[in-house]
Amino acid sequence: MKPLGIGLLGCGTVGSGLVELLERSRDHLERRTGLSPRLARVLVRDAHKPRAVDRALVTDDPEAFFGSEGLDVVVELIGGVEPARTYVLRALDAGHSVVTANKALLSVHADEIFRRAHRAGVSVGFEASVCGAIPIVRALCGGLIANRISSLVGIVNGTCNFVLTRMIEDGLTLTAALEEARRRGLTEADPSLDLDGTDAMQKLLILASLAFGVHPDPARVRVRGIRELEPEDIRAALEFGCTVRHVASADGAELRVEPAFLPRAHPLAGVRDENNAILVHGDAAGQMIFSGKGAGPLPTAGAVLSDIVEVAARPGPMFVPANGQAPPAPAESRAPHYLRLPIVDRPGMIGLIGTVLGNHGISITRVSASLTTEPGRGNVKILVDAVDESTLSRALEQIARLPVLTGKPVVVRILA
Ligand code: NAP
Ligand code: HSE
Repeated sequence: MKPLGIGLLGCGTVGSGLVELLERSRDHLERRTGLSPRLARVLVRDAHKPRAVDRALVTDDPEAFFGSEGLDVVVELIGGVEPARTYVLRALDAGHSVVTANKALLSVHADEIFRRAHRAGVSVGFEASVCGAIPIVRALCGGLIANRISSLVGIVNGTCNFVLTRMIEDGLTLTAALEEARRRGLTEADPSLDLDGTDAMQKLLILASLAFGVHPDPARVRVRGIRELEPEDIRAALEFGCTVRHVASADGAELRVEPAFLPRAHPLAGVRDENNAILVHGDAAGQMIFSGKGAGPLPTAGAVLSDIVEVAARPGPMFVPANGQAPPAPAESRAPHYLRLPIVDRPGMIGLIGTVLGNHGISITRVSASLTTEPGRGNVKILVDAVDESTLSRALEQIARLPVLTGKPVVVRILA
């Protein structure tokens, strides 16, 4: 049996999951891999916090950590950019392969990290950085390498999916659903990274660079979170035969992260709770769907531990670097849309809106109206047929100039 010493940077939600899983799967891993992984040292912020780890291994001193005997693989589970970046580079320079679940770090510093790993002749495993337990990194870098990938569409943030599922199925408020997600260890340390779409954007940047071999410009990703959605939008989706999901998509040219209405038959519509799923379209394989738990201590720890075994068994680059070409300029998206327009509750208002949409050649397919709790105010909810986003924006600008709206419209794409 070959001993494998793990230096663990960070022992919070995922780190504790890894500690539990290491204990639980030791015999199994030894039988299957011939490796005997064990914690060699643990670096945390507060060494006095109670945790289920041998106290003698825990330190809050980076020098003591990096000076430890018996570190084979260094696992970074601190999160964020610094000091995670500095520690990862230091580990690589010292000749340790690194495993990380840190998409915030990789979405910005992957090139630097993989160059340093290459120079040192060691590996970086990052399966857990995207979609938790789903082996999508291995699929894109391995099983699908012969395919030209034309598109990726998926649910890549477990927290948003959990929150939306609980709002839809149990009528919870966003705040109550988020608290439950936090309790289950699904959220980022700062949950606004989940709710505002940043976490999904970071994952999409990693997926797009693996799938298309390009470095997408983060500034060109259109990012929206789920906070703009009201219970009224969720009810409207159901009324119109759809569900609401937070969707990330990339087709090589355009990268988007946004709430979307999905018709109930859509392959992503049934993905519930903290599950993630990704539809990948490859020229040889056609369409494939990968799904499973996208967040949580144990599902994520499973991906981390599989990377630990992989980098120990096969040191050397695990990553196909992007070729550096920028993707082509985005083509304009054309799709059916859901609109919720907060309006003054007076006769003729819906007619005025319908006229502007009609004048822009936008065809209405469904309409529903409701009063709000405030007297004299209401919401009109409209489904429109496939329309270019620029045409829709021009129509909405014109509607905004009418004496009709009482607030900002909510506009959501409907995915086919
Ligand atoms: P977390 O619960 O906040 O844990 C962070 C750990 O890092 C804690 O043990 C903390 O120490 C330690 N730490 C923080 N700052 C430090 C510093 N300056 N020096 C040394 N240690 C420091 O985070 P998490 O949820 O486990 O997430 C870890 C990583 O996994 C993140 O990159 C996250 O995006 C990623 N991830 C999370 C999930 C998930 O489901 N939660 C899934 C996939 C990927 P103390 O314990 O002393 O505070
Ligand atoms: N906070 C992240 C999520 C963790 O909810 O998807 C998994 O990356």
